[in-house]
Amino acid sequence: MCGIVGIINSNSLKNEAIDILKKLEYRGYDSAGISLFEKNRIKTIKSVGKISELEKKSKNLLDKNFTGIIGHTRWATHGIVNRNNAHPFSDENLTLVCNGIIENYMEIQKRYVDIPNNIQSDVEVSFYFLSYLLNKYKSPDEAIKTFLKIIKGNYAFVIYIKKNNSFYLLKNGSPISISHKDKSFYACSDSSILSFYHNRIYHLKDGDILKIDNDVVKRLNNNNKIIFEENSVSQNPYDKGKFQHYMLKEIYEQPKVLKETQQRYNSEFFLDFANKFQKLFDVNKLILVGCGTAYHACMIGEYYFNKFTNLDVSSELASELRYKNINTKQKTLYIFVSQSGETMDTLMALKYIKKYNKTSVIITNSLQSSMVREADVTIPTYALKEVGVASTKAFTCQVLSLANLSLEVAKMNKTISNSDYKKNLKILNTLPDKLKKLIKDFSPTAKYLAKKMSLVNSCYFLGRNISYPIALEGSLKLKEISYMHSEGFPGGEMKHGPIALIDKNTMTVCIAPNNELYEKSLSNAQEIIARNGKIIILSSAKRTKKGNTEMSVPSLPKENFIDTPFIYSIPLQLISYYFALNEGTDIDQPRNLAKSVTVE
Ligand code: G6P
Repeated sequence: MCGIVGIINSNSLKNEAIDILKKLEYRGYDSAGISLFEKNRIKTIKSVGKISELEKKSKNLLDKNFTGIIGHTRWATHGIVNRNNAHPFSDENLTLVCNGIIENYMEIQKRYVDIPNNIQSDVEVSFYFLSYLLNKYKSPDEAIKTFLKIIKGNYAFVIYIKKNNSFYLLKNGSPISISHKDKSFYACSDSSILSFYHNRIYHLKDGDILKIDNDVVKRLNNNNKIIFEENSVSQNPYDKGKFQHYMLKEIYEQPKVLKETQQRYNSEFFLDFANKFQKLFDVNKLILVGCGTAYHACMIGEYYFNKFTNLDVSSELASELRYKNINTKQKTLYIFVSQSGETMDTLMALKYIKKYNKTSVIITNSLQSSMVREADVTIPTYALKEVGVASTKAFTCQVLSLANLSLEVAKMNKTISNSDYKKNLKILNTLPDKLKKLIKDFSPTAKYLAKKMSLVNSCYFLGRNISYPIALEGSLKLKEISYMHSEGFPGGEMKHGPIALIDKNTMTVCIAPNNELYEKSLSNAQEIIARNGKIIILSSAKRTKKGNTEMSVPSLPKENFIDTPFIYSIPLQLISYYFALNEGTDIDQPRNLAKSVTVE
């Protein structure tokens, strides 16, 4: 995982690198480091914790005589969080940073290099290995080529070698891009960040070795030309505006980005759908694949496809799909969902099904991501960059994408009437305005409910049918940002075990849309009240009386099947946000998490 950066020839090396590392913090924030270099020396500074610590530590370091810098922000995989395991790994001749995992580091340690046994980090072993190769080979280029032949794993490296005063970029599996203007070059594991600096970008391909020497960039592995593409700068997602946290800003942005996404679907992507995609959907089975929040979007998609089409559909966790046999006889279309397009588990699942010649679609918010390069068809979401680690607007845009897709497939396969198709599309078109009002109206209630939650130790979320994945997502959001113990269950399963958990120290949030399952959801609530459990019912029904129990129901707008996930997920996002705010946690960068998990 982690985020990496490299800069050559800028007037403000240290400040630019720190600025980029702050933007990369979503990829991990356990420790950070930088190495400044020029042809006679390398200077490295590392610190534990966030980039602000590194910034403090390097405050008095002057960069004016240096020609380049590399930097790293870490999410620990191999080796505990400490200064020693922080990148860059460096000595007087070599400095390097890496994003990814070197899988055969133990074998390298045994076969090639004599390294102290207490080394825990796969990248530190790689550093010693490259040093050894640099001593063995006269030419640093040969050392690098041999290094690449021997190491195994998914990685991206940025390396500076003093011997020939050269800067190298290596890629296999993990993303790394480079941008330039005149003599200045910037490399970064997130290409969208580079567009703030330069508008000409090249995305390295697997196996690439790029060398920058005397302001010239060339490829060492083959003679193919490096073609820099135009990349335009969009709005600045790192500006929080009036909001205290990115997460709240991104919750409020949902009506706007959903509107943009829907409009672009109407006028571009889903226009003339049958002509464009009839062949793609000529399948008997649909499998939706994702991780975390994206997996919950897949589960919601499963309910949409199940309702509107006659396709056999299921959802799979990407991290599990790879261990399952693939039915080679069945005509299956795989739909991958990933905000970042880089999550390693999802990427590996995509590569896995490709081996069986299966067709794939990727729904993503990152058009320059690795998954876009692997999949047959890309459906973009237009959520704009999401900075908060807990996904909000990217999630609802994924759900919108799946809602449109299921309607279009249903229309093409004639499993929905024309009037129902139009009715549902109208609901999606008018959804942004409904959500804008919902966010405004529900915020005071969310603050009130968040206070009620501070009375308990655990929180459970219940839902039936399409509300079940909403319950799972509500629970994930709460635990991600507040660290409260939380689980989501299908309402019907409560009595088969989870009800044993209920006592006066628990809160259960019942997601109870005012539909044919409403009564059943209320029965669940009553069973919990009977066991002294605390209850919040989220529903569009006004006030509810069941038996003798009067239940308080914060009223939500009347939902339809297709907009239920939006109308119920957004209040859950707000409740989690305000609860975490009261708890004083680090909402945008919760402990132990990272936004884009690029390790398996
Ligand atoms: C990480 C994040 C989650 C996210 C998941 C999938 O675990 O912390 O919030 O849902 O990755 O990310 P993706 O970019 O593939 O949607």
